[in-house]
Amino acid sequence: MEKYETHKHDIIVIGAGGAGLRAAIDASARGASVGLVCKSLLGKAHTVMAEGGVAAALANVDTGDGWKTHFHDTMHGGKLLNNWRMAQIHAQEAPERVEELEHWGALFDRTKEGKINQRAFGGHTWKRLAHIGDRTGLEMIRTLQDRGIHSGMDVYMECTITHLLKDGERISGAFGYWRESGRFVLFQAKAIILATGGIGKSYKVTSNSWEYTGDGHTLAYDAGADLIDMEFVQFHPTGMVWPPSVKGILVTEAVRGEGGILTNREGKRFMEKYDPERMELSTRDIVARSIYTEVLEGRGSPHGGAFLDISHRGGDYVKKKLPSMYHQFKEFAEIDITKEPMEVFPTTHYVMGGVRVDAETTVSTVPGLFAAGEVAGGMHGANRLGGNSLSDLLVFGRRAGQGATEYANKINDNSLSIDDAEIEKAVKEMLEPYENPHGENPYTIHQALQEAMGEYVGVFRTHEKISEGIEELEILKERAVTLKIEGSRMFNPGWHLCKDLKSMLIVSEAIARCALQREESRGAHSRVDFPGYDDEKWGKVNSVISKDNGNMKISTSPLPQMPEELKSIVDGGYK
Ligand code: FUM
Repeated sequence: MEKYETHKHDIIVIGAGGAGLRAAIDASARGASVGLVCKSLLGKAHTVMAEGGVAAALANVDTGDGWKTHFHDTMHGGKLLNNWRMAQIHAQEAPERVEELEHWGALFDRTKEGKINQRAFGGHTWKRLAHIGDRTGLEMIRTLQDRGIHSGMDVYMECTITHLLKDGERISGAFGYWRESGRFVLFQAKAIILATGGIGKSYKVTSNSWEYTGDGHTLAYDAGADLIDMEFVQFHPTGMVWPPSVKGILVTEAVRGEGGILTNREGKRFMEKYDPERMELSTRDIVARSIYTEVLEGRGSPHGGAFLDISHRGGDYVKKKLPSMYHQFKEFAEIDITKEPMEVFPTTHYVMGGVRVDAETTVSTVPGLFAAGEVAGGMHGANRLGGNSLSDLLVFGRRAGQGATEYANKINDNSLSIDDAEIEKAVKEMLEPYENPHGENPYTIHQALQEAMGEYVGVFRTHEKISEGIEELEILKERAVTLKIEGSRMFNPGWHLCKDLKSMLIVSEAIARCALQREESRGAHSRVDFPGYDDEKWGKVNSVISKDNGNMKISTSPLPQMPEELKSIVDGGYK
């Protein structure tokens, strides 16, 4: 049996983006012993890539705003499939969480009166996104990290968690390896908080960083938790299309929020056709489909996208409000966006589906397992509004810290045990690719997976296409049973990919199976063969994925019943 080191904490937080840091800060402040485990270096989590802003009804710019309008917008943005209680908590608590960040040192852009400035974003009735130019996520992570490391938590960097461990039904720890040495490590814990982000690396064209391989979704699924609504993958309307090396990189919605205009190769402002009222500030699902349609119908830009122009706002304004966009295009594409338009096309950005959690505590269906941020499902329904992810991770990160601490406080220190057989199994699985001289190359399979997901489970879907996709996934799964890797375990990216690939295959299968099951079009899930909403059937249920005797089981469950007073907010033309 391989040797491994052991650490013991009340709570292990997996992931050091906004949700993980905010959870760890809260749990530490409540006196829990916290270990924060991150795949990357602290400060490099994907939250740093969030650009345009954090949505909160502060009403600093548009004084008519309030939580009810934010709740109304979020529910409609999510096409009413959201967990209403999560959306309510989110809208009510987001302003306090943003102000708290400011007290902790975050330097937001200011209004003339010195308040936190807010900008327009798609689907938000009012100017609602607090921002720091177009580097909001970076400042948020800097602030949370500063606060976090002074809260007494232990940080374990460059460590990948591969398995969750249970004592009976309850969580008792997590097992993983150090990316640098390849050695194994055990974390004993009463509670685990998953804050691992999304799944974007299952697709070829994505705005997501290398860490987004569906780890938390898979850990939860393997531990017996439910996943919900996995068919809802958000394609952000505006990713870079050119040059190929940067294809998919995010072009922030703040460009449109600051007045950017979308046109096709004929110079026509095509959003007039798809959403004449909101135009470029329509919701992401609609803008992404509109751009895609323009290209499909032969009106695309030279590199197969649409034009996005902000130059009419003037050089000084653009450089002040969108400094990263200015540099990104200048350096990567030799385009000066103060003078010429950008070319953009949809890019895989966010998964609305995730671990089914309780809105109050974020606990999953497995005792001791909590989830917050992108890895959790329900909050955003069928389509997320821009800026709602940063507020989501603050609001539910904090709640996860609280929920996990309260749970851990009730557990006797010595009542949990670790099953050696589970560890042995985990080690065996991890070392298997070194024992398959004739196995498959993980990179080849990853590439095939990314291509299949884009081709069969992309922006537009049909029964036929998704079924072909599922067949392809079955073949890839079979091939991935015997992966082969060479070299040592010391910082070996090929070996790391073997485990990540298994996670990506699981989340991809969950996405495809849910997409096949939902025979309607809603939000980010667009079925060409079922073009409308089916409110009577599919508008009333979440899709559910669970593990049953080692197999993926798909079902549905009814949406939670919304109280009358909230229904009237949702139904009203709320301002
Ligand atoms: O476009 C953006 O700046 C992305 C924001 C978000 O996904 O919330």
